Amino acid sequence: MRFSDLSFRRRHISHSVKDYRRVVRRMLRRMPNDRALALAQSIGSETMEGFVAQGDGHVAALRHHGLTDGMTVYDVGCGCGRTAQALRRSGWQGQYVGADVVRELLDELKRQCPGYETVLNTTPTIVAPDASIDLVFHWSLFTHLYPAECYLYIADSYRALKPGGKLVFSFLEMADPAHNRVWQNNLDHLRRGDAGQQLDNFLHRDWIARFARDAGFSLPQFTDGSDGSNHPQLWQALAVMEKPDVTR
Ligand SMILES: C[S@@+](CC[C@H](N)C(=O)[O-])C[C@H]1O[C@@H](n2cnc3c(N)ncnc32)[C@H](O)[C@@H]1O
Repeated sequence: MRFSDLSFRRRHISHSVKDYRRVVRRMLRRMPNDRALALAQSIGSETMEGFVAQGDGHVAALRHHGLTDGMTVYDVGCGCGRTAQALRRSGWQGQYVGADVVRELLDELKRQCPGYETVLNTTPTIVAPDASIDLVFHWSLFTHLYPAECYLYIADSYRALKPGGKLVFSFLEMADPAHNRVWQNNLDHLRRGDAGQQLDNFLHRDWIARFARDAGFSLPQFTDGSDGSNHPQLWQALAVMEKPDVTR
């Protein structure tokens, strides 16, 4: 499939766009004098110390899974730049593109990381030509999308990655007791008769393996940081899949 053939390119994911725009704008109204903290809280960091530590953890995980200088990377659902700011702090040199659905978050990323590219995109697509990216990654994005929306992002990541390129993403799984509080929280919201501030989605490793196979990727590898994979424990699980390089 070519970049221009993707008819779903025009189909917006409206639920998460609406939810995240509402959350971000509410936080900015609540804390008009601390924009950085308001934006960090709207993407799930309670404190700026946590925001920094989590971003550093993301970068350690990306390095473990093959990030090197000189790469072109694409961060889907980049928020206000928890990972981008950590990449910059780490001294990484390369081409960074961050995509999100909320302009205020992208503006903050640009302010913190001049020279990094951002794109506002509300469709389940990677805004890049075919075979142009070394690494696509995202943290806490598939936790807020329906499985079919996750699959569309995986399929388009395959298209945009160079042969040998990798897709790395975090997800929530029922099998991990550490993820149980999100499940309990969902149940509490539903029992109270409200939907919560946004969708929280769980995936299963078998489904991710099926999505990878259907999209053309290698069998995914899974890590959670407590398995000797040399990156700090992240509270979500990570899936890593590679676009096979048939020329090798
Ligand atoms: C929990 S936050 C994580 C932000 C960032 N990945 C990080 O770890 O700091 C989820 C992000 O996904 C963005 N988002 C929501 N729906 C999206 C969609 N359909 N496509 C891309 N990003 C989306 C939100 O605006 C938000 O920035």
